Order: sequence, then C-alpha cells, then structure tokens
Amino acid sequence: MTWWQRSVVYQIYPRSFLDSDGDGVGDLPGITSKLDYLHTLGVDVIWLCPVYPHGGVDGGYDITDYRNIAPEFGSLPDWKDLLAGLHARGMKLVMDLVVNHTSDQHPWFLEARRSTDNPYRDYYLWRPGEGGGPPSNWGSHFGGSAWQLDPATDEYYLHLFATEQPDLNWENPRVRREVYDLMTFWLDLGIDGFRMDTINMLSKVPGFPDTAPGADYAYPLAEEHFLNGPELLTYLREMRAEVLSKYDVMTVGETPGVSPDAAAVLTDPQTGPLNMIFQFDHMALDKDPASARPRWTTVPYSVPELKTVLGRWQTELHGRGWNSLYLSNHDVPRLVSRYGDDGASRVPSAKLLATLLFTLQGTPYVYQGDELGIPNAKFTSIDDYRDVDTLNLYREDVIEGGRDPAGVLEMIHNKGRDNARTPMPWTGGENAGFTTGTPWIPLNPTFRDINAETVLADPDSVYWYYRDLIRLRREHPSIVEGRYDDLRPEHPTLYAYLRTHAQEQLLVLLNFGGQALDLDGVLDIPANAALLLGNYAAPGEVPAGVLQPWEARVYVTRSAEEMGALD
Ligand code: NOJ
Repeated sequence: MTWWQRSVVYQIYPRSFLDSDGDGVGDLPGITSKLDYLHTLGVDVIWLCPVYPHGGVDGGYDITDYRNIAPEFGSLPDWKDLLAGLHARGMKLVMDLVVNHTSDQHPWFLEARRSTDNPYRDYYLWRPGEGGGPPSNWGSHFGGSAWQLDPATDEYYLHLFATEQPDLNWENPRVRREVYDLMTFWLDLGIDGFRMDTINMLSKVPGFPDTAPGADYAYPLAEEHFLNGPELLTYLREMRAEVLSKYDVMTVGETPGVSPDAAAVLTDPQTGPLNMIFQFDHMALDKDPASARPRWTTVPYSVPELKTVLGRWQTELHGRGWNSLYLSNHDVPRLVSRYGDDGASRVPSAKLLATLLFTLQGTPYVYQGDELGIPNAKFTSIDDYRDVDTLNLYREDVIEGGRDPAGVLEMIHNKGRDNARTPMPWTGGENAGFTTGTPWIPLNPTFRDINAETVLADPDSVYWYYRDLIRLRREHPSIVEGRYDDLRPEHPTLYAYLRTHAQEQLLVLLNFGGQALDLDGVLDIPANAALLLGNYAAPGEVPAGVLQPWEARVYVTRSAEEMGALD
C-alpha cells in the first residue's frame, strides 16, 4: 500500500476557512494558524481549493494566473509557510488543478479573442454560429448555452461552465505543454499532488454534435459528447509520462459519469494515469432523474440503493484500482442535512455518516466543517447567496421565468453550493471568530451552538469521534486493505458489512434512520465480537441487541490471534 492509500484527506475551501487580516475573506496565514487543529484531528493530507489569481466568478475555479497566489489569500511566501508548516508536521499538500478551462481574463484568452489568427486563438474552442444561433445546442453546467458569441470576431467560444470560463483546446499540443509546465512549477516547489477539476471533460467529441433536446430547457447538458471523450486517456497518459511519473505524488481526478470499469482503467496501479477518481453515482441518489435539471431536485434517497451504489464501487475496484471516499465537498450540501438528520439526531447521524466514510476501502475525504457536524445554512433571502450557479438558477427561474421564489429558495436550501461555503465557525462570538471584518458570505445561523470551541470542549463531540475513527483506520489494516462484503443488502435501514483481511475481520453496523432496530432475527453479532467504536456505546462495552436511532458500531469479530489459530 502507498502513503496516499493509507491517508485521510481534509479539503479546505480557503475563502471560508479563517481570515487573518480582517478583509472578510479566509486566507493562507489563517490556514497556517490552524494546522494544529488539523493535526490533532489526525488528517494526513490537505487539499486546497484554488488559491490562484482568478476572475471572481466561480470561487477561484476561473483562474487568471496559474503560477501565483490571489492577493486576498496572501502571497507566495505565505503559501510556502503553509507548505513548510504542513511538512514539519508530517502532513502533505495537494493543490487544485483547473485546466479544463481558464478565466476569460486569463492573458491567453485576452489574446485569443483579439483575432482569428492570433497565436493564442487555438488555445480555446471557437466555432462560427449556425442558423443565427450557437454552433450546437450544448448547455452549460451553470445554465444557458455553453456557447458564447464574442463580437470582436463574430465567433462563438465553448464554456462548459460559466460564460467567463472558456474551455481550453486540449487538441492543441501547446496547451498541453503549458499545463505540464505549470504542474512542474508547483511540483518543484514541493507539493504532494493534485486534485484535478472536471478532468474527464478535456476531450470533446469532434464537431460538437447536438444532443437530444431537454424537457423544458433549450440547452441540455451534452454529457455524452464531453465526458470521457475519445482522447482523454491519451492526454492523461501523456501527462503522467511527461510530469507525474517523475514525482512521488497523489492524484485524484474529478470525473462525473464514470463507471467502475472506466475507473479501473484510469486508476490501474500499473498503467492508470491517475491514483483515484471522484465518482458521482451516490451523489445522484436523492435527485429526480426525470427532471430537466436533476441536480436542483431532491427526492428521499433509499438506503438499499445507497448500499448498492457504494457496494458496487467497493467490490468492482477492489484489487483493480483505488476508490476515493466522500460524502460532501464545496459543491454539494452538508452531509448531515443530506444523508442524516440535522434536527434531533444531528450528532449521532453525523457520527454514523463518518463511520461509513472511514470504514470503506479507499482514501477518505473530509470536507471542512463536517468534523463539527455543521448542517446546511438555509438563508431566507437570495441576497445572502454568492454562488454563481445558485444566482443563475434564481435569475433564470424567478426573475426571468416568473416561478415562485419560495419554491426556488427551497431548492437552494436543499442543494445550493453555498450551504458548504459559509465561514468555518471557530467560536460562538462575533463573526464566529472567522474574521474581524465583514464576512464575504453570511455565517451559518447555527454558529452560536455549533462551533469549534464548543465542539472541542465536548469529549463526546463529532470532532473527537472523527479523530477516533481516523486512529481506528490507522490501526486496522483491514479497513485499508480488506475485502468488503455487504451482509444485508436488502434491509431497508440496516447497513451491515464486513471488512476482511488476512489478520482480522471488522463488522460495521449502521442503523440509518430515526427508528430503533431490534437485531433479533435480522443479524447475529458473533459472541466473540469486541466493540472497537460506537456512537452510543463505548469501546469494550457489550451493547444491547437493539440499535438506537442512527447508531453506528464497529466490531472486530476475529482478533489477529484468533485468525492465526484458524490457519
Ligand atoms: C468543479 C468544481 O468543484 C466546482 O466548484 C467548479 O465550479 C467547477 N468544477 C468548474 O471549475
């Protein structure tokens, strides 16, 4: 096993972590001042969302300079201090690589749009219009057409995300060289890897063919024409040969719409260009697929389906590739609101979800604040939201479309990205201890009760349970290496699985939901099973044969010695 297979990653959204200079925006010195907080939690790797100079449209994912730090986050020396602080604690740093697109303010694009024969023109994807409209019916992820007419040359450019995020032309070898060089720049500064933004969108189907029209939106997402495109593997293999193979680093690709078989190719230990990928199957479980825009819908998820999806990834990648494990990030709602109960059972359900996250096979990713059990923010006014995707939805649906604002706000409460982007609540005091200025986005209204100070002072808190789970994961090789077997795939609320390894076997029991569950006739806990960790009972106790609402238990069912005796 490699270091990145044994690691736990903690994702930081820098804008919302901690502000050290009172401008209302989190920054690098703020992060550096909290390294002990992260070290105590026990995480090994920090993934930093983009901190580069940017166009201000998509939370840093619209980059204007790949080799620098945005002034609001600090400077390159501040970044070096952060890296040194991490390395001094034996921790590592992974940077976000955003190279499917740049900002429209990037010097390459400013040049490219000047004339059709500009040397940078072919860095991007330009086409003439068709019949007075865009070249094809492709929609952008953030609403509207994915093509934008640029008056200077009367041609359209492709942007799969915001209008201000033009897609790079990966067919151009000069673009690829630029990317390899900028990766080398950061690797030579000592970073430990990359999280690769929307990396399976690099290769588009030639000709940008139309996709089937959507139900009520003119511009559907043409995913079959840009996900896992014809040249993707060629590009990623070249990237590995040119850059990654020269360093001992970890890579994780963000890859919507990828099957376990495709993931096994991408992450094959010998030939795969990446170490692991973020798959999205479990992110779809609470969406209505029949809707024109599923990502804004919410339907109750079913626990058996969750087991099917996670189980498929566990068994199909085992021994063939490597899983990343995540239940939340900066693009999705808070996990306790989405999969748990953010009311009366907030704490036990946050702990249950953490138990799931840390006891499957793969590299777990903790999103900042989830270790405090923070729920969704649910602002009552659209004026409190900042996310381009959320504001576009509101504009299209309410301002232009005349839909009921209350219904649209409810969609935003459930699925909006700003749920995850409110400032980290460090204290229950002024501005939650996040800033001495005015925070760039309002605080989560729960901060007086749910903040790091309160949570750290409570030995039974979510934070300390995360720490215990991370330790447990380190001490039990069956979690990292073992086989996964679902014991009751059909059961409506019980998620029970084994993690089996040559020296030991773990049994994980998770009671999803607000009802107690009598295990009699459902599952026998072996008499020799010892409780290692639970969110109700303490290690060593013999808990009852009834699982409490949202109860989670991890047993070791055979000790190393007993396994030895069996041989
Ligand atoms: C995925 C990132 O996680 C998201 O925040 C961003 O908006 C898009 N990619 C575009 O870069």
